[in-house]
Amino acid sequence: MTEASDIPVRVRPEVAALPPYKQGRQAGADAFKLSSNENPFDPLPGVVEKVRDAAAFNRYPDASAARLRARLAERFGVTADGVHVGAGSVSILAQLVQATAGPGDEVIYAWRSFEAYPWLAVVAGATSVQVPLAPGARHDLDAMAAAVTERTRAIIVCTPNNPTGPIVTQAEFDAFVEKVPSDVLVILDEAYAEFVTDPDAVNGLRAPGGHPSPNVVVLRTFSKAYGLAGLRVGYAVGHPRVLDAARSTAIPLSVTAQAEAAALASLDAEAELLERVRVIAERRDALVVALRKTGWDVPVAQGNFVWLPAGAQAIDIAERFVEAGLVVRPFAGDGIRISVGEHESVDKVLMIAASVVEDLPEDHSGRTEA
Ligand SMILES: Cc1ncc(COP(=O)(O)O)c(C=O)c1O
Repeated sequence: MTEASDIPVRVRPEVAALPPYKQGRQAGADAFKLSSNENPFDPLPGVVEKVRDAAAFNRYPDASAARLRARLAERFGVTADGVHVGAGSVSILAQLVQATAGPGDEVIYAWRSFEAYPWLAVVAGATSVQVPLAPGARHDLDAMAAAVTERTRAIIVCTPNNPTGPIVTQAEFDAFVEKVPSDVLVILDEAYAEFVTDPDAVNGLRAPGGHPSPNVVVLRTFSKAYGLAGLRVGYAVGHPRVLDAARSTAIPLSVTAQAEAAALASLDAEAELLERVRVIAERRDALVVALRKTGWDVPVAQGNFVWLPAGAQAIDIAERFVEAGLVVRPFAGDGIRISVGEHESVDKVLMIAASVVEDLPEDHSGRTEA
């Protein structure tokens, strides 16, 4: 954090007070990086080839990512202007929040959830309204609907919820959208949609034509299931005029030709990529079962990560993982998120998890009764 008085020019005080974005820790050569929910598989050779051939570096990319938008539009049964591509879905989140909320306006989201949400609201000059998660580390959509005021401009629903893991069901989401005023933007952040195996989970793009409510925008990314985190490409599907507002706030030309080519090549290679996703989802399910056996009260996990509710000991326990060559992501006072990574990392995670659960007090909520 920087004091506004240390800065030689006048900076908005709320921006000066912002801690800089904290990335998941980098891992040494012999450690497993399980801190950023990345895909542990190497990129497919065909995708790498397409990136290499994409375009000369001295040329700007197509600002509208038209080929990728057309491809996604066809897939989801919408027009091309009903798709918006950004340099990662986080950039589209920022655009949507900036387009809808400014000083005096409120942005509602669950907490704890994706750590970028509070930052997005501050940068837009808006006020965050954080609604605590319900038992089971799930969204409390009734409480979120009840938190809507005249000042609410955007609501973010993260499913599966990063970092805790549970999904919102289709029935819960439909009932929620019914309750929200139709002129309030609802952002359905489905960054981990492809890893979901619960048939009751919401899927904002289930039916052709996108989500039927014009105030709902669905966000997806190529960073996770498709393994393109380093190239920065994500997309939104929604009402064209809502997406126009996001496009108006976007920094032009931020999606590179290489990112667009990689996304297109990944869609071509989707069967192979989704097979990898299936492997990770199975690994996750096995990990959750085994972690619960060690005594951890792990919530339902539907993304490519699991959550250890370590409470006040999150930082200390995370350090024990790091010492063992497992770089995990602690959230001080709350818990530890561990990405489902390489096959070889799983036994190590279980070993450390079992050894540290002993240190939790008997009545700690992170421990199961058993
Ligand atoms: C819930 C959620 N939304 C959005 C993102 C942003 O992903 P990207 O900007 O890489 O598309 C992430 C990344 O971790 C996430 O966890």
